[in-house]
Amino acid sequence: MALIYVTRQIPEVGITALRVAGHEVVVSEKDGVLTADELRAALSTRPYEALVSLLTDIIDASALAAAPHLRIVANYAVGYNNITLTDTKARSIAVTNTPGVLTSSVAEFTLALMFAIVKRIPEADRFTRAGRFDGWAPELLLGSDLRGKTLGIVGAGRIGYEVALAAHHGLGMKIVYHDPKVSEVLEAAVPATFHATLESLLPVADVVSIHVPLLPATHHLMNAERLSLMKPSAYLINSARGPIIDETALISALQTGVIRGAALDVFEAEPTIAPALLALDNVVATPHIASATTETRDKMALMVAQNINDFLAGITPANLVTE
Ligand code: DGY
Repeated sequence: MALIYVTRQIPEVGITALRVAGHEVVVSEKDGVLTADELRAALSTRPYEALVSLLTDIIDASALAAAPHLRIVANYAVGYNNITLTDTKARSIAVTNTPGVLTSSVAEFTLALMFAIVKRIPEADRFTRAGRFDGWAPELLLGSDLRGKTLGIVGAGRIGYEVALAAHHGLGMKIVYHDPKVSEVLEAAVPATFHATLESLLPVADVVSIHVPLLPATHHLMNAERLSLMKPSAYLINSARGPIIDETALISALQTGVIRGAALDVFEAEPTIAPALLALDNVVATPHIASATTETRDKMALMVAQNINDFLAGITPANLVTE
């Protein structure tokens, strides 16, 4: 029996799976993100051996110092940029994530963002609700077609792969992609053209969709210079992590017509969003919900529980983060 702390309520199936395995689980009662002080205070109250963290929890040396018995941090997310791996490593604390189970949800949501911005759906909805619809008009709220257009996938991992497949097979889009290496899996599934550099991909894509993790190397990957390489008619989609795009540069690019629009589920300093970004009609903004389906969140909770239960039973968890 081990003592486990969960920083915020996750779907009950995950908590139940931990309890059924015989562990004592304490869930934060705060309906919100714990501050660094609150997290430290909570961790220091009892000898927790396992922690279920969210992508909104900063897990660094300071947080870990409050939990001297901690042996595993199981992140309730596929991304783990909220965890300082050098700090967990220094304490020999295992880290796990939730890959695979959210791929389809995030890919579907990415396509939804693409439709939303290209077909101007939220803008049209605002227009209609404002009572401005006074009859069909030949040039009312013109968007763009996707069939035959080129989708630029930045990061050909699981999610990028699934977006590419759906866009090609479902929408007839041409696929170009940038990744550190050629993806034989992607190229076997769709006719996809590899670009060794973003500089060569950006000028040819009509829609650019970001699917890389947030790492020091991908911070501000899309900066003013790279945005300026995109077509003026192109759209940028981000369902990965906010800081991959330089938000100030993006606002300027959107205001001045460097690109046509952007659909964003993540923001550089979320939950804070620059008012200038939200003032733009050529922006679709959603609150980091790409994986937010009942099915996926349950699967993520079960995966977190499995990772912890395995680890505590002496079995190497399937989703151990090793880098
Ligand atoms: C993740 O898992 O990293 C997503 O951003 C949140 O579901």
